[in-house]
Amino acid sequence: MLQRGTTEHYVDAALYDYEYRRRRADVRCYRRLAAQTQGPILEIGCGTGRIAAPLARDGHQVIGVDLSLSMLRRALQRRERLPRVARPRLQLLQGSFYQLPLRSRFALVIAAFNTLQHVYQADALSTLLLKLRQLLAPGGLLAFDVLNPDLSWLVRDPERRWSKTRFRHPVTDERLVYTTNHQYDVATQLTAITIYYDPAPDQPGKSERVQLCHRQYYPAELRFIVEKSGLCVVHHGGDFDGNALDEHAESQLVICCRDTDRSAAERQLQRVFPYDDKRPSRR
Ligand SMILES: C[S@@+](CC[C@H](N)C(=O)[O-])C[C@H]1O[C@@H](n2cnc3c(N)ncnc32)[C@H](O)[C@@H]1O
Repeated sequence: MLQRGTTEHYVDAALYDYEYRRRRADVRCYRRLAAQTQGPILEIGCGTGRIAAPLARDGHQVIGVDLSLSMLRRALQRRERLPRVARPRLQLLQGSFYQLPLRSRFALVIAAFNTLQHVYQADALSTLLLKLRQLLAPGGLLAFDVLNPDLSWLVRDPERRWSKTRFRHPVTDERLVYTTNHQYDVATQLTAITIYYDPAPDQPGKSERVQLCHRQYYPAELRFIVEKSGLCVVHHGGDFDGNALDEHAESQLVICCRDTDRSAAERQLQRVFPYDDKRPSRR
């Protein structure tokens, strides 16, 4: 189940990009963050290059690592669409973030859009963060975002189909109906999500099911794991615009650094979220 939940959602990379085409706030945020750093950037779980490619376009040297060949193929296509001068700045590597073959040190390491929710145990996350800490250059930042567990969503009836959406496949043009449901296991904090792609009622074709597995990380637990890994949390927000982590927050954005780099990191963040602490409440 975990193997399928780590890979199946990423087989149809064109569909992945289509489904998340409106997700832009995180890209803007990681670009603002990168603009504050000087030096190379590592993105683990870079996927289709949704974030890595704009960073290379902005002038950064970026290494993107991903397990999925189909996602990386799409990232290569995205790299080809960059201005010629920016293309060599984006290097793509296939492999697992548990075995990074890297000797360089990075000014910024990122794991964007729930990538770390594919780390299914707290101990494994702590070990990974420890390794990522070792890849930080002096003054370097580690930034990632994961979902803020939504209790009412997690306990939804797993027998029902949710989020019904009709759409056309971006490549085949087939008319499809998207629905989803999931099982949440309270003991392991694992969510086994099933995504159903059924042909539109008047259309021939076969239904497909895709598994996606996420470990839910609760905010206090996440902070504990990050700090246990020798990192100091300088920002733990509820979105990509500097808003607080509260019950309305969909995501948790965590930015951390080594203890010794804390003051410099805090100054950098003031330029990323200039309105931090002054944002109006979303309630
Ligand atoms: C939700 S996607 C995020 C992709 C990209 N960061 C983005 O923002 O669109 C998660 C990515 O993590 C990758 N992934 C999952 N487990 C991995 C592992 N052990 N090593 C490397 N990549 C992994 C998946 O292949 C997928 O591309």
